Amino acid sequence: MKQSTEVFASEIGKIGIFLGGRSQERAVSLRSGNAIYRALANAGFHVSKIDTSNGFLKTLKSKDIDFGFPALHGTGGEDGALQRILDRHRIPYVGSGVRASWNAFNKWNAKKRFVRLGIPTPEFRLVTRRNFKRLLQTCPPPYVLKPLTQGSSIDVVMIHTAREGQAHLRKLLHKYSKVLMEQKIVGRELTVAILGKRALPVIEIKSKRQFYDYRAKYEKGFTDYLVPAPLPPALTKQVKWIALRVHRCLGLRDFSRVDMIVDPSGRPYVLEVNSIPGFTETSLLPKAADSAGLNFTDLCVYLLKTAYERTQKKF
Ligand SMILES: Nc1ncnc2c1ncn2[C@@H]1O[C@H](COP(=O)(O)OP(=O)(O)O)[C@@H](O)[C@H]1O
Ligand SMILES: [Mg+2]
Repeated sequence: MKQSTEVFASEIGKIGIFLGGRSQERAVSLRSGNAIYRALANAGFHVSKIDTSNGFLKTLKSKDIDFGFPALHGTGGEDGALQRILDRHRIPYVGSGVRASWNAFNKWNAKKRFVRLGIPTPEFRLVTRRNFKRLLQTCPPPYVLKPLTQGSSIDVVMIHTAREGQAHLRKLLHKYSKVLMEQKIVGRELTVAILGKRALPVIEIKSKRQFYDYRAKYEKGFTDYLVPAPLPPALTKQVKWIALRVHRCLGLRDFSRVDMIVDPSGRPYVLEVNSIPGFTETSLLPKAADSAGLNFTDLCVYLLKTAYERTQKKF
């Protein structure tokens, strides 16, 4: 194994780990990127970190990398922007391409595709500054409001009264031109990570807060994780199958993570899919991989190998 990793490390060459960026998820991305950097450096790979927040195009040329590993979350990294630049420079990279990244990142685009393909997702409306008064009258709470292009539960709010709806929509529409209004699903929260072409063990998320918000995600003690999720085998099979369908129907590559809620009758709903899920050592995809027997370093190397083999076939 060690020998073959050494050979692979010299074959793949210089790896640039893209991290940081300017999105509201910068802090999370720095943690993801640093964890990947440490793991690959310790495994003997030639790695460098590239913070995309300032003038990184110049850095990209001077650093002269052979392969990219995007560890960015949110705008500028998970939305296909970085991937477009890498394509232009003909630098191969881990993960999804430009179009798939954008379609997954934009929740409105993704949900429209889910509906077209019969993938169950909570009912939804697109709220704009023009239609919000009408929607407030015609859609009674409870519902969820969320930005179209954001992550880490940033600006996601649960609405229980008409008053709350009005106040939060005004605030959100001040910051974003469009907002997603979504049927609130009460049930068990699950996430299914995809690695290569298979679904990893399902994780159940038990947040101790009102929902799986930013603090529940990143501060210790607010959430319990059950891996593998204690679900009836038929439901496990069904949610894995749905997650694989989501991954494939959006044309995602190498890895992704599909968030879902299963209602008390056992019906699963897809909330969203992450094309670059959190990648700290305690993040959900690494947790699921670990439960499948792949430690954090193995996971990083596996992803590099998968992406490398894919790009070798293409060029
Ligand atoms: N329709 C919904 N019903 C109930 N809870 C929801 C719904 N949508 C989102 N949530 C809660 O908000 C969290 C974040 O929403 P999600 O759509 O996954 O966006 P993000 O990209 O911010 O992770 C979810 O993990 C879940 O706890
Ligand atoms: Mg999510």
